[in-house]
Amino acid sequence: MAEDRRITAPLALSVSRRVFGRTPDDESVDCYTLTNRRGMTVDILTYGARIHRLCLPDMHGEIADVALGFDDLEGYTGPDDAYFGATIGRFANRIAGGHFTLDDQAHQLSTNENGNTLHGGERGFDSRVWAAAPLDTGNAVGVELTLLSPAGEMGFPGTLAVTLRYTLDDENRLSLHYSAVCDAPTVINLTNHLYLNLAGATHGDILDHAARLNASRYTPVDDALIPTGRIAPVAGTALDFTRPRRIGQAIADRAPELAGTGGGYDFNWVLDSAGDIGRLAARVADADSGRAVELYTSEPGVQFYTSNNLNGEFVGKSGVAYPRYAGFTLEAQRFPDAPNQPGFPGGTVLRPGEKYTQNTTYKFLPELTPRSSGATHVYDAP
Ligand code: BGC
Repeated sequence: MAEDRRITAPLALSVSRRVFGRTPDDESVDCYTLTNRRGMTVDILTYGARIHRLCLPDMHGEIADVALGFDDLEGYTGPDDAYFGATIGRFANRIAGGHFTLDDQAHQLSTNENGNTLHGGERGFDSRVWAAAPLDTGNAVGVELTLLSPAGEMGFPGTLAVTLRYTLDDENRLSLHYSAVCDAPTVINLTNHLYLNLAGATHGDILDHAARLNASRYTPVDDALIPTGRIAPVAGTALDFTRPRRIGQAIADRAPELAGTGGGYDFNWVLDSAGDIGRLAARVADADSGRAVELYTSEPGVQFYTSNNLNGEFVGKSGVAYPRYAGFTLEAQRFPDAPNQPGFPGGTVLRPGEKYTQNTTYKFLPELTPRSSGATHVYDAP
């Protein structure tokens, strides 16, 4: 494939910037490229603070872009872009009816899916142009993105000032550090909507990948994918990924648990790592390429979504249409609809004088070592 190439020259830990395009509103969009010494490169766009490209060697040193997305800005600014690689805010996933009450005051948000608010409403952080500056910490390179969300934007109260730092180090760790402050009480839940296909973004579907989620519970949803408020065990269901399992298995078996989610996975798992970023939250591996990704996060939940809603309508990179199940997401988050769910853990209300933080690391494997590690290595629990 055209996207594949081998490492031919020694690489340096570096960050560079180039102009990527102009939005329909004539805003200039930049692309920052982070490179490490293991041959991994990550492209970040100022449009939506998106991960546009993520190039990673396989166990033979063959490099492929494993992030779903588009070749140019027009793809991302289209009417419905499925949030490829995007930063999601102010509130990840759904808020029922686009409505919540905070300090006895009712708020109505922009609704953009069946009368509910999905991923921040009609125009979320995914479609804003962020300010950016390069970062170099000595052992990591990155980009710091900032966004000012005015009071009332998409119906959310309070001005919100958000900073997101992406860094890449030589251990193939892509870290996302979010922080935010406000000037009036508001709600917040930030995440990233990176779709990965570890075989390469143009290589079909992810049904043969194996997933492990360090989660013994999840939050069941109704027909509109709004949490019912219950926290239920995964044991004995198609959602039990406490041991690595092929993603496509329960999908092929038409497991009843997946009937309401478009025949695939689209749930918030309650992580047993419970906000401890030192513990593994999730791991997905592709045995054929030897590539794997591990998720570590400060967040209590992860939305594992297998792109059930893709259906070939998006023509992505290199002119390849993305079929159903073309990618998977691991969206580290606080629980969907938490402002309306008294039984859920909090952490989604932000008040003046407080600071919201969210730390998430995607660690990519293998490191560029000889084949000896191979497929056994990528399936091993750490
Ligand atoms: C949601 C899906 C939604 C998708 C949009 C995911 O985070 O859980 O229900 O369709 O985002 O691309």
